[in-house]
Amino acid sequence: MPMGTVMSTENYHFVDHKFDVVVIGAGGAGLRATLGMAEQGFKTACVTKVFPTRSHTVAAQGGIAASLANMGPDNWQWHMYDTVKGSDWLGDLDAMEYLAREAPTAVYELEHYGVPFSRTEQGKIYQRPFGGHTTDFGDGLPVQRTCAAADRTGHAMLHALYGQSLKHNVLFFIEYYALDLIMMDGAVTGVVAWNLDDGTIHRFSAKMVVLATGGYGRAYFSTTSAHTCTGDGGGMITRAGLPLQDMEFVQFHPTGIYGSGCLITEGARGEGGYLINAEGERFMERYAPSFKDLASRDVVSRCMTIEIREGRGIGPKKDHIHLVLSHLDPATLHERLPGISESARIFAGIDVTKDPIPVIPTVHYNMGGIPTNYWGEVLNPDARNPDRIQPGLMAVGEAGCASVHGANRLGSNSLIDLVVFGRAAAIRAGKVIDRSGRIPDLDLRACDKIIERFDRLRHANGSISTEALRDEMLHTMQEDAAVFREEKSLKKGCERISALWRALADLKVSDRSLIWNSDLVETLELENLMANAITTVYSAQARKESRGAHAREDYPERDDKNWRKHTLAYLSLDGKITLSYRAVHLCLLTKPEDGGIDPQKISPKKRVY
Ligand code: FUM
Repeated sequence: MPMGTVMSTENYHFVDHKFDVVVIGAGGAGLRATLGMAEQGFKTACVTKVFPTRSHTVAAQGGIAASLANMGPDNWQWHMYDTVKGSDWLGDLDAMEYLAREAPTAVYELEHYGVPFSRTEQGKIYQRPFGGHTTDFGDGLPVQRTCAAADRTGHAMLHALYGQSLKHNVLFFIEYYALDLIMMDGAVTGVVAWNLDDGTIHRFSAKMVVLATGGYGRAYFSTTSAHTCTGDGGGMITRAGLPLQDMEFVQFHPTGIYGSGCLITEGARGEGGYLINAEGERFMERYAPSFKDLASRDVVSRCMTIEIREGRGIGPKKDHIHLVLSHLDPATLHERLPGISESARIFAGIDVTKDPIPVIPTVHYNMGGIPTNYWGEVLNPDARNPDRIQPGLMAVGEAGCASVHGANRLGSNSLIDLVVFGRAAAIRAGKVIDRSGRIPDLDLRACDKIIERFDRLRHANGSISTEALRDEMLHTMQEDAAVFREEKSLKKGCERISALWRALADLKVSDRSLIWNSDLVETLELENLMANAITTVYSAQARKESRGAHAREDYPERDDKNWRKHTLAYLSLDGKITLSYRAVHLCLLTKPEDGGIDPQKISPKKRVY
């Protein structure tokens, strides 16, 4: 490997810490877990590479799903049904039940923490329709279930949760980049992080580490994800020899602004917006006669792609679709959708009260991630126990895979996932952490190995720049792991991404500094992105069916007999992928006679909207 001088770990300045709990990431899930841990009296640190209120949750616009029934009849069983159907029957039923059942409590907690939700005339939390959310187990009309703070819901949540965490004396390590988990005798006992501001290396020992590092949308060329969404948790997991689950399921949001990828919330369609093709046709009426533009987002994204492919796209290249809002009352746009009106002006140069917004399906969310149970405990399955728990480690939010979204997530189920499972992790930690036990000692050999990797990358002296390699990865993912997939391009994608993986050994990092070294940060991020990308393409190539966001043209049907199971992808350091599978959880938490959902209601059927 053409690397430069490898410095000894003695050349670094170390600072050591001991905490009961260290949470990595300060988005909605990380902050909710952090706050919950601190509320229970745990000495808690939150390590984050960006200032908490700049985490990607800030970009979540439309809202957070919970069956509050403020706008009409609703209940958690209907919410669960929609989530199961939205997942295309791949989600774990216990986790989905927990999500739908706990959602109202989690939202009222947010209200009490200070989230300034929009209000109805009666002063209740305002709720809007979102795709795939229905009444009466899919037989009724769309439901208004998505609780909103205008179109800045994530922004409002982050501010409230950060303020509450400070009130509970959480210690924040802001602009620290987590390098790797410390593993001792098979248990996670801490994490090593680099302080970007002064170059010091921080070694954290902890009884519990919580990964809340978000998704890996930046593995794709066009994405609604922030530049920080680089799958850092997934990278750490693979280096720890643990698997990633269901990585083939990547969600495309129907309405990213054409050209910039900036999100236009599904709430825009919830408030009455609709899509048209070049002929001015409201084409969703043809594909989803009941729910039209409010069908599940994987469905809408595929229909848009078909319209474009069949020559009914808009613009000189016929390569996008129009979202029409100009018929809506300007007062509604001003009150309910101020943020997207501004985004459309800045990123598309249009006035939404007069002109349609040019949009295109854009990568938005990763259903896959670090496998966990519904308490956020990370799973490290073995042959005897598919639900074996990895000691010392939890994962929540988009980094994790509970699996509550299965093959496709419903809009506004992500914000509720963040708080329900962030909260659940804290509740569980309260039960499993030995409060009187000692915080583990530092395993210095494990820490040294982490620093050796960091040092190797810092002095990488090959022939390819990080930017050039990343660019190739972005295009590979965009072309070969797209809305529609088939064997030839997936095979090509596997070959391309494996070649790029090998090229990691030939990277060149030009800046050796330890302070605000963006070249090195981006290189560390690229390694993490690549771990997520390679597991995505190989998992997709192996799954021979269509389900949710994984739409194979050569296998157009869902195949429950052979494929209603989770993919586990293990990545070795030399880039070899090993796949295995674990069964979907079909057990429910509440019996029907105790108010639980009737299992018949959620048995698999054809998914039509
Ligand atoms: O469209 C949106 O506002 C996105 C919401 C979500 O992904 O949950």
